[in-house]
Amino acid sequence: MATPALPDGDTVTGESFSADKYFATQPPPPSLEHDVARVKEFLQRQLKEQRKVVLVTSGGTTVPLELNVVRFLDNFSAGTRGATSAEYFLKAGYAVIFMHRQFSLQPFSRHYSHSTHPFLDFLDVTEPPTPSSSSSSAPPDITVRPSERVQLLEVLSAYKAVQRAGTLLTLTFVTVNDYLWLLRAVSQEMGVLGRGCLFYLAAAVSDFFLPRQKMSVHKIQSGKGSLHIEMDQVPKILKPLVDEWTREGYIVSFKLETDEGLLIPKARQALARYGHQVVIGNDLHRRKFEVVFVSPKSPHSASEPSQSPSAAYEETWLRIDLEQNPHKEIEEDIVAELVRRHGLWVDGGARTVA
Ligand code: PMT
Repeated sequence: MATPALPDGDTVTGESFSADKYFATQPPPPSLEHDVARVKEFLQRQLKEQRKVVLVTSGGTTVPLELNVVRFLDNFSAGTRGATSAEYFLKAGYAVIFMHRQFSLQPFSRHYSHSTHPFLDFLDVTEPPTPSSSSSSAPPDITVRPSERVQLLEVLSAYKAVQRAGTLLTLTFVTVNDYLWLLRAVSQEMGVLGRGCLFYLAAAVSDFFLPRQKMSVHKIQSGKGSLHIEMDQVPKILKPLVDEWTREGYIVSFKLETDEGLLIPKARQALARYGHQVVIGNDLHRRKFEVVFVSPKSPHSASEPSQSPSAAYEETWLRIDLEQNPHKEIEEDIVAELVRRHGLWVDGGARTVA
């Protein structure tokens, strides 16, 4: 397939904020220290129990327009990809740090989302039989509709098992600033696991932001007609993540496009620019049943010597047939493939975790 030219607006030029400048000028969220203490404790426990750990980021970040925030820009993401994948990682024996946008979907509770499957709708109130001889009556009972029991039992059992094992740590962010500070801190801590850590960056992160120094303190007034805001570019954090914050982690980023023809070229561009392990490309409308893994070609794969950039990368498509199997979740196959690849990565490294 011919590589289409990338739209001009997508080329990364004139980055106004390097990661260093960003962290030197934008304040950390107040909860950062507390979150880092929880992460440290969690990682020490997983290290002792010789578990691999995955950081799953999930949901969209916001960009507030005012310090006393009334308005903000948001990024599209319900958190389905992240929450679903987190469950499959737990099932595969990983410990999961689930870093998600506040109120987006979460592992386990995602099955009972208030908009698609509200739990109140499958509970019934059962009146006890009226006692014939006594006037005191037992309180009504709550029962689960028979049609929901099998799934609820499965979800609840998995959830309780994870709670008992202590293998899920949940962290929340709202703004892109919360996200960047938290990602940096967590990834620096994850270094203790060497190659045993995996990064699964499914969050939809804002590309532009308003530095604190340029924000209006109070609600922007609407009386002056149209609104013009110049935003700065958010630093591409994959670069320092790969080069500085976690040198041995296995890093998987995502690429969301609406023009299918851009998926592979943009994924290759990201790999060339940041030097990480995998980009998973997904088209907005096909993401529930089709994704593509793009990765540097392994040195062992047979290929003709070539100058073409495409010769340096390989693509693996994952597809599921939702008509044949409407309950299948593509995240099951995505996670299985990543667990396999991460296993090879761990085995190939000097420092290993079981
Ligand atoms: O939650 P769902 O509704 O199920 O949707 C899931 C999803 C479609 C949002 C998810 O599968 C997905 O594709 N997430 C990534 C969205 C995206 O394309 O993000 P991006 O182009 O802004 O960033 C690409 C990668 O670069 C991301 O992995 C991100 O971690 C990274 N990035 C982004 C911004 C930034 N400043 N620095 C970065 O390094």
